[in-house]
Amino acid sequence: MPATIVVGMQWGDEGKGKVIDVLAGDADWTVRFQGGANAGHTIWIGGDRFALHLLPSGAVRDGVRCALGWGMVIDPDRLLAEIEELEARGISIRRRLSISARASLLLPCHRELDGLEEEGRRSGGLGTTRRGIGPAYQDRAARTGLVVADLGTAHGRERLRAAYERLSARIGAAGQVTPWEELRASWERWSAEITPLAGDPTEEVHQALGRGETVLFEGAQGTHLDLHAGTYPYVTSSSTLAGGACAGFGIGPTRIDQVIGVAKAYTTRVGTGPFPTELAGEEGERLRRRGAEVGTTTGRPRRCGLLDLPLLRAAARWNGLTGIALTKADVLSGRKSNSVAVAYELDGRRIEIPPSSPHDLERVRPVYEEWPGWEEIPEGAATRSDLPQGLARYAERIASATGAPVVLISTGPERSSTISCSIAP
Ligand code: IMP
Repeated sequence: MPATIVVGMQWGDEGKGKVIDVLAGDADWTVRFQGGANAGHTIWIGGDRFALHLLPSGAVRDGVRCALGWGMVIDPDRLLAEIEELEARGISIRRRLSISARASLLLPCHRELDGLEEEGRRSGGLGTTRRGIGPAYQDRAARTGLVVADLGTAHGRERLRAAYERLSARIGAAGQVTPWEELRASWERWSAEITPLAGDPTEEVHQALGRGETVLFEGAQGTHLDLHAGTYPYVTSSSTLAGGACAGFGIGPTRIDQVIGVAKAYTTRVGTGPFPTELAGEEGERLRRRGAEVGTTTGRPRRCGLLDLPLLRAAARWNGLTGIALTKADVLSGRKSNSVAVAYELDGRRIEIPPSSPHDLERVRPVYEEWPGWEEIPEGAATRSDLPQGLARYAERIASATGAPVVLISTGPERSSTISCSIAP
């Protein structure tokens, strides 16, 4: 399919990196359209682990073009570090990378402010990744931020000075601010190294689509962390929905051929906020250990819980999903049965999708169904007929709840542990 959007259906960490890496085998371009270095996409290739934060997952595939869209907030220090890390591992990316000159720059002061604001919030804060995402998007919306096109210009240096004064005044004596001389030196380095990569990837991608090339739009975070649709205020500051790809990259909805939602076979969340199917105590701990549920970006342990179909049902609708990729099915193997939340009860009423108020989401009682488990998934399983019966039925239940077919099942971190299928509602 020429234009495919991939989004997370839960609270991020669904395994999008692996799914996109598999799909990127047929792609000419992989593209990011929102967020910044708060993302952490892990890819395993032949026992080597790659953790990407700003670059799209196609970066690890030679020959795939990569683009960073104007909806992103780009931390130049982290971007250059990521490029250099890949280069040190023998993967050259610069000649394949195109950065939107319209994208926002995320400055060290944004990171410093994020950390400080997080510490100032009561009762656990929002649990942000402290990568400066909220403050950088605040600047974008306030029209006081800097963009990639400002690099290397006199006008940009003036805006940098103004931003520095404004942000360091907000940080004040309470925090540590990068000294101005250091920031100026960084500015020169960013200008020299990033300006040659800056341009108009939106136009390049449209031309590529015109030639019949294949483009993957790679969502970061997940549906329920979306600034508007998610569990506000426990959300990120960008639009994580499929529509966010249209606005954040400059592609109209009519140009999109398919939208794949990625769902983990159970649910996890990092940071604060409601989580109806969360498993407390030893059961949650076991799932965390078995699934190695530790944040790629922050190293924080993820909260773990059961599969929540109201979350997935809403994600299927809000993103217009044409298919679902189910990940980490292997983590549940060996269990006799699995409880799955099929609906919620709120004030004596049964509801099928999450209530709009996060306060109500705190109060819902999940309605569970019990589904048979499955044994170990046979090595080399590649098609539907290789699926254990219990797993096939689990996938059918997801398809019937969401109205979208399960088209891919991931049974391990490596590319080879992937089953293509079409399990329809
Ligand atoms: P921020 O995006 O750093 O501002 O964090 C806001 C919320 O989104 C926090 O709860 C974070 O834990 C969560 N978050 C941000 N990025 C990711 C991600 O890539 N995976 C999972 N959660 C994320």
